[in-house]
Amino acid sequence: MSGNRRRTFIKGVAATMALRPGLGLAGIAIEDTLPMLEPVVISRADLDRGGGEVAFEAWFRYGDRDRLVGGLLLDLEKMPPSRSSTRPLTRPSDRTTADPVSLSDPRLVAYVSNCPHEACTVHLESNRQILTRAADGVGLPDGPVLLCPCHFSMFDPRKDGSRFAGPAYRGLYRYVLGVSGSSIIIDRLERAVVELFG
Ligand code: FES
Repeated sequence: MSGNRRRTFIKGVAATMALRPGLGLAGIAIEDTLPMLEPVVISRADLDRGGGEVAFEAWFRYGDRDRLVGGLLLDLEKMPPSRSSTRPLTRPSDRTTADPVSLSDPRLVAYVSNCPHEACTVHLESNRQILTRAADGVGLPDGPVLLCPCHFSMFDPRKDGSRFAGPAYRGLYRYVLGVSGSSIIIDRLERAVVELFG
């Protein structure tokens, strides 16, 4: 995977987060994560404007190359009731360096948007007709689902992005996020994401 490096990130945030022991996400030890080359900072206002969904991109280093993956930040209480287009948005907020970084708000989750099967981009889908057809007899959870359009793997955003249908062998790779005032800071991702790169 490749693409142009985006330069719309705040510098210095990663160092702040690195000082916080225990910052991580449920079920993943910090040592099972990789640092991103630059943190992504998304304001709560942008997340609200996106209807509880914001798309972003993340760079990390694997082997001797910089790698790019997609991301979806979701507010589980505000996820859109119908399919929405993703909004490329990774702008610095009004955060100051004095703001403390806390453990993640449990309503907030961030997933790598590249499917673990063959890296197609998943999207949030809540159209029950589409989901029922894609699920092909598999029971659907309530609410929107992360759907891969290539071979119809499906992931539950409310259950850590776990897979419940389709050929993907596992759930979505996850990001670590923290909250600082009105900003959401994403600066690490699950180490297993390197599987996308062979
Ligand atoms: S790439 Fe997603 S199911 Fe195949």
